[in-house]
Amino acid sequence: MSKIVSKKQLSEDVYRLDLEAPKIALKRKPGQFVILRLDELSERIPLTIVDSDSDKGIITIIVQAVGETTRKIVSKNAGEEILDVAGPLGSPTLIEKKGIVVVVGGGVGTAVVYPVAKAFKEAGNNVISVIGARNKELIILEDEMETISDKVYITTDDGSYGAKGFVTDALKNIIAGKDTIAEVLAVGPVPMMKAVCEVTKKFNIKTMVSLNPIMVDGTGMCGACRVTVGGKTKFTCVDGPEFDGHKVDFDELSRRLKSYSKMEKYGEEKQEGCCKGF
Ligand code: FAD
Ligand code: NAD
Ligand code: FES
Repeated sequence: MSKIVSKKQLSEDVYRLDLEAPKIALKRKPGQFVILRLDELSERIPLTIVDSDSDKGIITIIVQAVGETTRKIVSKNAGEEILDVAGPLGSPTLIEKKGIVVVVGGGVGTAVVYPVAKAFKEAGNNVISVIGARNKELIILEDEMETISDKVYITTDDGSYGAKGFVTDALKNIIAGKDTIAEVLAVGPVPMMKAVCEVTKKFNIKTMVSLNPIMVDGTGMCGACRVTVGGKTKFTCVDGPEFDGHKVDFDELSRRLKSYSKMEKYGEEKQEGCCKGF
């Protein structure tokens, strides 16, 4: 059992939860995630460990309510419990001093980028951050990103805050103005990660992406999180979640993410008290 210590709404569908998980707080490294099961009937879902406090035994997760399980999670309140939180899972990010590192967070992908950007900054890198969302209300972690970045660029699709456009527009400007970018890390919707890689490939800039396939066990045994990287099959839960973006088959990932869309829609309709369809 893991107690929810605090809960805060960050945007319309996005919530930050602090959970009691002392062993995970002690061991976790940037880039790792947990798999969480709300109760005995819930599915298991992966969520990035955004931050931790090993003295207090707390980990922070940020959840975007997109379907049945994430909606159930964000409906819980401080003081309530989650049945199990397994982790830390996945390979930690390789953090070393590289020079200029550009991190790009699209929507809730900023929650995944933040812990890695923080570690890059602590390792002495020059961190330039780009965070983008559809509109001003959906921008998350702006203050936190400001604290750990040398410079933050904000974009919104509708121009309601920061520069109007996609994160890739800001990235193109940064590339045009800088001599040597050692690495780019991009996390967000699959089309965004693909678009970032198309931009950086032309300039031969190493680009890592954190992939978000469907996961079940999180230990490399079920094969649900299979992705193709450089023509080889990889399991995101143990070989990733970060991979060289220039080698990822994003089209296959998009197709596989839609595998259960009929059941996911049914789950949502069931939650809304509607039983038509499935
Ligand atoms: P479902 O009913 O399963 O799906 C609803 C909608 O979400 C559908 O459109 C479906 O296509 C889409 N969806 C389902 N699974 C995923 C997925 N893995 N990624 C993207 N879209 C999906 N989400 C966060 O909000 N915060 C995080 O920090 C975070 N970290 C992640 C880290 C990893 C390593 C991975 C693999 C995923 C992460 N995700 C994160 C995504 C999160 O796990 C999914 O949003 C969640 O499993 C959806 O479950 P659901 O039952 O609520 O929705
Ligand atoms: P969104 O759809 O609102 O997009 C956020 C931003 O990404 C946009 O404002 C834009 O700047 C950029 N973007 C989107 N499509 C683009 C394109 N084709 N080209 C260039 N830039 C583009 O994001 P959201 O609603 O917050 O959804 C978050 C997404 O992040 C979900 O689709 C989910 O799959 C993904 N996600 C990934 C992880 C992970 O671990 N990789 C974790 C959580 C969520
Ligand atoms: Fe089962 Fe990765 S989630 S192999």
